[in-house]
Amino acid sequence: MKKYKVGYTCGVFDLFHVGHLNLLERCKEQCDYLIVGVCDDKYVTDIKHKEPVYGEEQRRRILNALKVVDKAEIVTIEETDDKILAWNKFKFDVLFSGDDWKGSERYKKTEEQFEKLGAKIEYLPYTQGISTSQIKKNLGKKS
Ligand code: CTP
Repeated sequence: MKKYKVGYTCGVFDLFHVGHLNLLERCKEQCDYLIVGVCDDKYVTDIKHKEPVYGEEQRRRILNALKVVDKAEIVTIEETDDKILAWNKFKFDVLFSGDDWKGSERYKKTEEQFEKLGAKIEYLPYTQGISTSQIKKNLGKKS
């Protein structure tokens, strides 16, 4: 019996790598059904100021095909920024976030809002030494 029924996490997940996999495996260890919100291309260009290598639908399909992911859906900028909107859509029991957000004003507020809805936030560790940005840099050097 896992700690939660429905879990949710979201991110860009461009150039899918083992840091992403570690995160999703840790999420799935704690919930029966894992939903992944895939940030749309507009979020990547307008908010992260980056160019996605893989477009949103390709990123969604890769995530959706993973054994540890039960459903991957594209989410908007609004749903990425406001986790209550994401909760209204997916009705999860737990939100998984990177532990770099723990204790921030934004997440303290979200924790309070979630408490009223009966949802929790679990903070998971970031895998050091790998990221999409780092991969892009390395490829730039070698190609
Ligand atoms: N993540 C992680 N460990 C990594 C990279 C990402 O745990 N080494 C997690 C992030 O905390 C986030 C999810 O994976 O919850 C999606 O992260 P994303 O921003 O798409 O990945 P990055 O590789 O960090 O991308 P970028 O370098 O563009 O910021």
